[in-house]
Amino acid sequence: MKKHLKKIVIALIVVFILIQFFPTHRNENKELLPTDFSKVYDVPENIHVMLKNACYDCHSNNTKYPWYNKIQPVSWFLENHIAEAKEELNFSEFGNYSAKKQNHKLDEIIDEVKEGEMPLKGYKLMHSEAKFSDEERKQFLSYFQKIMK
Ligand code: HEC
Repeated sequence: MKKHLKKIVIALIVVFILIQFFPTHRNENKELLPTDFSKVYDVPENIHVMLKNACYDCHSNNTKYPWYNKIQPVSWFLENHIAEAKEELNFSEFGNYSAKKQNHKLDEIIDEVKEGEMPLKGYKLMHSEAKFSDEERKQFLSYFQKIMK
C-alpha cells in the first residue's frame, strides 16, 4: 500500500511538472479599442478606475495577470474564467453591442453590483483594490443608472 502511494505521488509530481510546459493563451491586447466602454460613454475618472480595478481583468481584452498565473493548472482555470466572463460582458468591445444590448448590459451591471455578486468573491480575496466601499458602490451605481436609457 505504501509503495503504491509513493508511486502515485511521484506520478502526480511528474504530471505537475509536465503541464508547466503547456503554452497558454494570454488575454492581452495592449491597444485601447475605439469600442472600449470608456470611448463609447463619457466615463468619469473615478468610475474608470473602479472598472479597471474590479472588472477589466475578466471583462475586457486586457488582463493584468497575477504572478500565480505562471503556474498550471491555475493558468487554465483563469483562462476559462476570463473567456466565460467576456462572453457575458466585454468592456473592450462594448461599442459593438447594439443599443438594445448595451442597455441590457448596463441593467445587468447595476444588478450584479447592487447584489454584491460582482466582482466575484474569490477575486476580491486576492485583489483588495477590487472591493468597493459603500461610498464607491453608491457612486458606481448612480453613474450606471444615469447613463441607462
Ligand atoms: C474574476 C473574474 C470576474 C471579475 C473580476 C468580474 N466578473 Fe463579472 N462575470 C464573471 C464570470 C465568470 C461571469 C459569467 C458567469 C456568471 O454569471 O457568474 C460574469 C458575469 C457578469 C455579468 C453577467 C451576469 C448575468 O446576468 O448573467 C455581469 C453584468 C458582470 N459579470 C459584471 C461585472 C462587473 C460590473 C464587474 C466589476 C465590478 C465584474 N463583473 C467583475 C467574472 C468576473
